[in-house]
Formats: sequence, C-alpha cells, structure tokens
Amino acid sequence: MSAISAQHVYKVFGRRSQEAVKRLQSGQSRDEVKPLGTAAVIDASFEVEKGETFVVMGLSGSGKSTLIRMLNGLLQPTAGSIAIDGTDISDVSPAQLREIRRSKVSMVFQHFALLPHRSVLDNAAYPLEIQGVAREERRARAAEALTMTGLAGWEDHLPSQLSGGMRQRVGLARALAADTDVLLMDEAFSALDPLIRREMQDQLVELQANLGKTIVFITHDLNEAMHLGDRIAVMRDGRIVQVDTAEKILSEPADDYVARFVADVDRSRVLTAGSFMSRPVVTVPRNAGPAVALREMRAAQVSAAYVVDRRRVLHGSVHDDELVAAQRQGTDTLDGLVHPDHSAVGPDTPLSEMFAPAAESRLPLAVVDDGGRLLGVVPRVALLEAMAPSTPSPASPASPDPAEGADAGTDGSADEAASQAGGDHPVAHGASAVPTEGRTDDVRVSTEGGLR
Ligand SMILES: Nc1ncnc2c1ncn2[C@@H]1O[C@H](COP(=O)(O)OP(=O)(O)OP(=O)(O)O)[C@@H](O)[C@H]1O
Ligand SMILES: [Mg+2]
Repeated sequence: MSAISAQHVYKVFGRRSQEAVKRLQSGQSRDEVKPLGTAAVIDASFEVEKGETFVVMGLSGSGKSTLIRMLNGLLQPTAGSIAIDGTDISDVSPAQLREIRRSKVSMVFQHFALLPHRSVLDNAAYPLEIQGVAREERRARAAEALTMTGLAGWEDHLPSQLSGGMRQRVGLARALAADTDVLLMDEAFSALDPLIRREMQDQLVELQANLGKTIVFITHDLNEAMHLGDRIAVMRDGRIVQVDTAEKILSEPADDYVARFVADVDRSRVLTAGSFMSRPVVTVPRNAGPAVALREMRAAQVSAAYVVDRRRVLHGSVHDDELVAAQRQGTDTLDGLVHPDHSAVGPDTPLSEMFAPAAESRLPLAVVDDGGRLLGVVPRVALLEAMAPSTPSPASPASPDPAEGADAGTDGSADEAASQAGGDHPVAHGASAVPTEGRTDDVRVSTEGGLR
C-alpha cells in the first residue's frame, strides 16, 4: 500500500467548479473553462511510496500548493480521491480528518509559521500540545527533534533571536516532533539564502536516511528538486506532465516544457557514479601471479588493472612495469605488488564529488558497494561526457569508425586514456604507464567531439 495515493484529482476554484471539472473531463482546456473557475489542479494521479521523497515542481501558479494542501485535507478536491495510508481523506468526517492530520501528516511551511512569544522549545512542542500530550513528554520529544535539526542549546530562545535558517530548523523540528509518517513541505527552504538552503537540503537528506519518512516536497528550484527527490513530478498549468526519477527527467524529458525546464540544471549534482559506471575491461584475480596478470592486461591493452578476490572485493591495483620486474625475479604471487585503492567511491556519489578522486586515480575510478565489492568503473572520459548536455554527440570527424569511438567511452580504451592522464600523479609508481598505441587517440578525439 502506498503512503499517499491520488487518483484523478481536480481542484477548481470558483462557483461553478463541478461544471468546470465535467468540461475538463470531456476534453476542454484550462482556458476554455476559465469563465467557470480557476482550474488549479487537473486530473492529478500519482502514488508516493513509504519512505520516498517525492518532489513536486513547476512554475509559479502551476498548482503545487493547491495539490499539497489537498494531501492533508486543508483543501477538498473538487473531484477525485486522495488516500493517506489507505484511508480516503476526501471521504471522512471533520473529526477523522483532524485525527489524520494529527497522527499521520505534518506540514512545514515556507514562512516558518512560528509563534513569536513562545520559546524555541515550546514552538517545537506546539503540535504535541494540541494533541494533548503531557508536558514532560512533549518537551522531551521536542528537545529531541531540536537536537536532530542541530538546535540543541537554543531551546529557551525566542524565534526573533534566531536567523532565518534556524527558524526553519524550528519549523522542521516541530514537524519531526509530531512524529508523523508523512511530512509535507511547501517551499520550505525557499526563503533561505543559498548557502543555508544547501545546508538544510543536506540535513534533510541525512535526517531522511535515518528516519525514513514519506516526504512530499514542493519547490520551483530544479537543483533542489533533483538533489532531494527520489522522484519528481513536474506540473504545468495544473497538470502533472511527468513523474520520474531525476535522471529520467534529465535524459528523457516528456515534452519540450520539461526539456526547457531541465536545460540549466547542475548535472554534476544529479548524476551519480552508479548511473554511468561500466564494466571494467579487465580485472586480475587476487590469487593470480604476475605472469597471469600481465597476460590478461596485455590482451586488454591496459597498463594497470584492479585486483579482486573471488567475492569481487576490491584489493587495489597492479601496474605492468612492476609486474614485469617481479616476473623477472621469479615471483609467482601478487603479494607486495597490489597498491591499495583509496579513491573508490560508492554508487550514490554525485558526479561533482568524483572529479577529485578521478584525478588522483591512475585507473578509471572504481565504484564499490558497502562491502567493498567492485561494482564497476567510471572512466574519466565518461565524467567529462556526462557534463555535456544530453544532445546526441556528433560523430567524431577524426575517428575512422564512429562506433568504435562511442564504444571506447565505456570500455577498455577509456582505461587507457584515464590511466595515461593520471600518469603524472605525484605518487605514480616507477616508470609511467606503458603507452598504448592506436585507440587512445581515438578516444580523446571522440571525447572532444562529444563535448563540443
Ligand atoms: N484560494 C484560491 N482561490 C482562487 N484561486 C486560487 C486559490 N488558491 C490558488 N488559486 C489559483 O490556483 C492556481 C494555482 O495556485 P497555487 O498556489 O497552487 O500555485 P503554486 O504552483 O503553488 O504557485 P507558487 O509557486 O507561486 O506558490 C493559481 O492560478 C492561483 O491563482
Ligand atoms: Mg505555492
């Protein structure tokens, strides 16, 4: 069962709203029904799963606030149904609705809505007070929520003594103290200046990782939407035109409106290692010796390779020059030849945080899971390509075979480009990587083609 389910929801403001809905259902446009009322939300259907952060975005007036206000019963839909945790809230008594709002859904507003003459602690405890929770318990729960939002020590201050960012933390603490499963946040961070806003976003992500709330978050800031949302609903003129993950919205916008919307998004914060890693062209088994390792690497035309054990746990990398030297000395294991890899990233690492480790790495950046298992690699060329807009990259004029150039971006030759580019790393070992002839240049050329 979804935490929130909306089915064919309409909200028309105006005296002839039912008539307007009928006409909209029979195909008339928002403008055509304008004389009957303002169609703020038109035929919205979506499900929000438990623990999901669902972002609603769209231009001013597209219907976001109207939609979220229907989710906690502040507004009644003109048509359609909304269920919270399986209970249809368009079909309950006022008393039941109050109970649902108290126990299941809390809301964080843009302008904090703090009570000026109450202390920070009492503000955070306010919803619990309304619920009739005993004083000691509500103060304890509010204090705990304030600690979660970084406000420990500020309990006795008044809202006027706090900065905007801190006031919004009180607003968030208040919603957390109520301990409802669903949090509705309408432009909750929009009034904050950009740095504080980023901080609050990060804090919300962190809280969410621990608390697993169901969050509906409204914003008209695309970067914020992409940063926070598991999925994003894009609204236009009252309609939801696309519901998808950030990545899908970037790579497959449903229409020109969405495409224009995402044109200037900061892609580096959205795309993650897991989304564009590829299979490493070669890995060396930990129990192999230098001869086997060199043979594999020669076949794949790489000068360095990752070493994994039977469970694919990453142990580090080996370098051809050192393997050759060890082989000459008659060594038959990789002991002492494996350089530990310190730059590996997790699959959720955003692109923006991958450039630094990629620059330090002689190999394509390794992507590992929590258990240290090698999931894939991200060649540096893929990082650069990912920064380019999603228009199809033109075939490289200098590449004799465009297919080869494209392919190279995701497999072995890219290893080469990356390992060569990393050859001048200060702790590079021994001789620099053995240059590989031929395809490396093609990779470079095609990369530039893609970025042009
Ligand atoms: N109480 C109301 N009475 C009449 N019209 C309303 C009411 N509330 C909203 N509207 C209209 O419904 C439409 C959607 O408004 P809504 O506030 O939901 O947009 P929004 O996407 O939240 O915009 P913003 O980004 O500016 O907050 C607008 O045309 C607005 O004028
Ligand atoms: Mg609004």
